[in-house]
Amino acid sequence: MIRIDQLSVQFGGVHAIDGLSATLEAPVCGLIGPNGAGKTTLVNVLGGLVRPRSGRVEVDGRDLLALSPLQRVRFGLRRSFQTEQVVEDLSVWDNLRAVLDHVPPGAEAPFDQLARVLEHIGLLSVATRLGQRLNLFERRLVEIGKALLGQPRLLLLDEPGAGLTEHEAARLRELLCGIPAFCGAQVLLIDHDVDLIAATCSQTLVLDFGRRLALGPTREVLQDPAVQAAYLGASE
Ligand SMILES: Nc1ncnc2c1ncn2[C@@H]1O[C@H](COP(=O)(O)OP(=O)(O)OP(=O)(O)O)[C@@H](O)[C@H]1O
Ligand SMILES: [Mg+2]
Repeated sequence: MIRIDQLSVQFGGVHAIDGLSATLEAPVCGLIGPNGAGKTTLVNVLGGLVRPRSGRVEVDGRDLLALSPLQRVRFGLRRSFQTEQVVEDLSVWDNLRAVLDHVPPGAEAPFDQLARVLEHIGLLSVATRLGQRLNLFERRLVEIGKALLGQPRLLLLDEPGAGLTEHEAARLRELLCGIPAFCGAQVLLIDHDVDLIAATCSQTLVLDFGRRLALGPTREVLQDPAVQAAYLGASE
């Protein structure tokens, strides 16, 4: 569970996050809002790349802001970036293997864990393929695979669905829905694809100008006139 309390982030004169309070408890939570709403900034605060001006963030009762980025990874925080971080001259297997140096070892043998995660994301058959030979969808899957290693507690996924075909988006949807059952982690999913959010997230937070525009069951949130006006471009 993520509990955000009076969080503010400022870049010069820009209030990227402005007094945000929200509790996110669904296994898969959506985070949506127009460009520049503060979504990536919120993920950066959770991951430790951005230090807020004020406020508090707890994950499963732990004060996250007191932890260094590395401590957060050990605590179980994982993120994917808007631009995939895949090493081009390493194989799929080695891209994932590199992560094992930084996460707590579980009870399982490391290579067993790697194989299990690769099979789960559907990349076991291309484990020897180099990063540079992967298509966009496979690169996204590598990002998610890395996040699934080493007892994750919370996955922060920044637009994993952008630019995918319909078939790929359907596979991604299935994968995202299955993450809590696969490893017990909560997922916070940023995406502009409202269909993907509606299909995967039971709870959604909508940001606009760094403020909370709506929070609740996804279906209700997407029907909220304020959300439709600000985000979905509906004319009121
Ligand atoms: N490092 C930074 N320095 C200055 N301003 C920043 C920085 N990062 C973000 N901003 C500004 O903060 C606001 C929120 O940006 P953010 O990237 O969090 O939005 P977003 O909701 O992720 O948008 P998008 O949907 O386009 O990815 C924007 O006005 C952006 O220009
Ligand atoms: Mg962003």
